[in-house]
Amino acid sequence: MKKICVVGSINMDLIVTANRFPQPGETLVGKEFNTFPGGKGANQAVAAGRLQADVRMVGKIGDDMYGAQLIHNLQENGVKTSEVMVDSNYSTGIAAIEVDGTGENHIIIVPGANGKVDIPLIDEKLDAMLEADIFLFQLEIPLETVIYAMRKLKEHGKTIILDPAPACPLPEEIYRFIDFLTPNETEIAMITGREIKTMTDIKEAAASLYQKGVGAVIVKAGSHGAYFFSKKDFFHCPGFTVKAVDTTGAGDSFNGGLAVSLAGENGVKESVKFANAVGALSTTAKGAQNAMPTLTQVTSLIKNQGK
Ligand code: RIB
Repeated sequence: MKKICVVGSINMDLIVTANRFPQPGETLVGKEFNTFPGGKGANQAVAAGRLQADVRMVGKIGDDMYGAQLIHNLQENGVKTSEVMVDSNYSTGIAAIEVDGTGENHIIIVPGANGKVDIPLIDEKLDAMLEADIFLFQLEIPLETVIYAMRKLKEHGKTIILDPAPACPLPEEIYRFIDFLTPNETEIAMITGREIKTMTDIKEAAASLYQKGVGAVIVKAGSHGAYFFSKKDFFHCPGFTVKAVDTTGAGDSFNGGLAVSLAGENGVKESVKFANAVGALSTTAKGAQNAMPTLTQVTSLIKNQGK
């Protein structure tokens, strides 16, 4: 089994639920408030840890109560945290999340220490990072750090998966470092600057990305599953049917699952199917890391629905 390393954000999620989202300027009475461990990076690491992968995390937390709770939760889920540093000048990252009655969410993040995951940290941790084979990145830490780390890792022939979330315009140089780019439909529209309305729009947008050097583009389509595009291949993996209560972290679970399956030397079709199952199951309980499935749950969903 290959080893996985996640470079990214660690947040405490402050979650309110309500029947619907408020209109601008409206005050609404909600139903529940919870704090759950989150952050796109940590979510991907916990998804992999719950699936019994060998996974380590590189990132930063503040010297506060949330930071301590988040490290504890990573460790409880089998994630190695020796490369997570405490920066006492900043607070631990947080995300304010609203979830409506259908399980959809709105998220505002305040990066705190995540915003200080910098190039010196990568230099300091590079030797430890190089023990891993497959690397998961997202965009909740500074983009210049992401690009720097990717360049260093590519010099060593590592496999790189980028979840371009939260989406932002990306510099041309980044594409050649990426083996798997995993946007959803909104993110692919944002990073390619194209309007996405039809399947043809998605295909053309994906083609523009692999022509720039991305190995493969996997477009995550929620309950519709995922679409895989590369120079040689195109396929659709249908989604699994589950009862969603909270979609927070579903995309992160997908990426964690994808990395775990690739780490097990499975092919891309098998791996996208596995990732779909992990993503679907993560929507069936509240919270992000809280809802990540076990290997047994994933294998039985695949067996039962056999997609
Ligand atoms: O992708 C979901 C995550 O986005 C949440 O856990 C929140 O922390 C934000 O980073």
